[in-house]
Amino acid sequence: MKALVLSGGSGTRLRPFSYSMPKQLIPIANKPVLQHVLENIRDLGVTEIGVIVGGGAEQIEAAVGDGSGLGVRITYIPQENPTGLAACVSLARPFLGNDDFVMYLGDNMLPDGVGEIAAQFAADRPAAQVVVHKVADPTAFGVAELDAEGRVTRLVEKPKEPRSDLALIGVYFFTPAIHEAVASIEPSARGELEITDAIQWLLTHGADVRASQYEGYWKDTGRVDDVLACNRKLLDDVKPDVVGEVDATSVITGQVVVEAGARVVRSTIEGPAIIGAGTLVEDSRVGPYTSIGKDCVLRGTHMDESIALDGATVTEVRGLHGSVIGRSATVGQAAQHRLVVGDHTSVEVAAA
Ligand code: G1P
Repeated sequence: MKALVLSGGSGTRLRPFSYSMPKQLIPIANKPVLQHVLENIRDLGVTEIGVIVGGGAEQIEAAVGDGSGLGVRITYIPQENPTGLAACVSLARPFLGNDDFVMYLGDNMLPDGVGEIAAQFAADRPAAQVVVHKVADPTAFGVAELDAEGRVTRLVEKPKEPRSDLALIGVYFFTPAIHEAVASIEPSARGELEITDAIQWLLTHGADVRASQYEGYWKDTGRVDDVLACNRKLLDDVKPDVVGEVDATSVITGQVVVEAGARVVRSTIEGPAIIGAGTLVEDSRVGPYTSIGKDCVLRGTHMDESIALDGATVTEVRGLHGSVIGRSATVGQAAQHRLVVGDHTSVEVAAA
């Protein structure tokens, strides 16, 4: 079996970050979402991975390279315009050949893994096997309707009046039967070739399509609040590992990682939290549920339930909560609020 990871797309819901980086590189517990995805696929025993890349392809290649660091072999497949998930399958046809494959959306996190579902697919080989999860608002997703045996009877992309609460959550197992389906469908109302429609085509033409319910934690990391929620969830399982320097006046409690070359000076780190390599934390309180990237500087700062990306600097700002600070961004103190804020950025100032 091969894997096809979709790592293009425009990421409009993740602005301003997605202006300068592919959304799949947003770090969760200090690791890009895409790396979590690739490790998850490797854990299925799949090592031949095609990655569809659009804007920001160089950044993706710089982050995961040829995959050898993760024990996989990556083939990059460039896509000029995002025209739908099914369009990605036809673009990847030369890579996929006539092999079975798992298609995985590069911004979906399923940290509990899909090993059992993959084994079931390999044993039964239905034309397609989709992974579904109960959600509160199915109108935002592709929705699967099932019969009593768990066979899919109908799939609808973002239905206005959903007849089931089982959403497609970005992982699909296919036999080569999908290629004829993909070649046969028309673009949807949003102008995209929908994989949901291709699987519905299989159903209409009598193919066996199954669904497996994933019971673990799932997040589509499409919005900043999802990224923060997923970060909290992953930090809950972080193993304490203090490699960097912590001075005698600092206090570390709970599950905390201090990576190599990081320094914690006169500060309190309350886990779960990660302090990235080369970062300086001085006269600060960090955590719980906070991931600080590489080469950041936090001085006189109090921050919890937040993420700082690589190279961020925060000086003398207390009470930061639920914040995401971009790469090499600076946040500091002044007598009055002064904001230099990029497009589609959100700033919330606490009442005095
Ligand atoms: C896509 C799929 C949808 C699926 C969702 C999961 O939606 O079209 O069926 O439920 O991913 O994240 P999109 O993110 O393109 O709106």
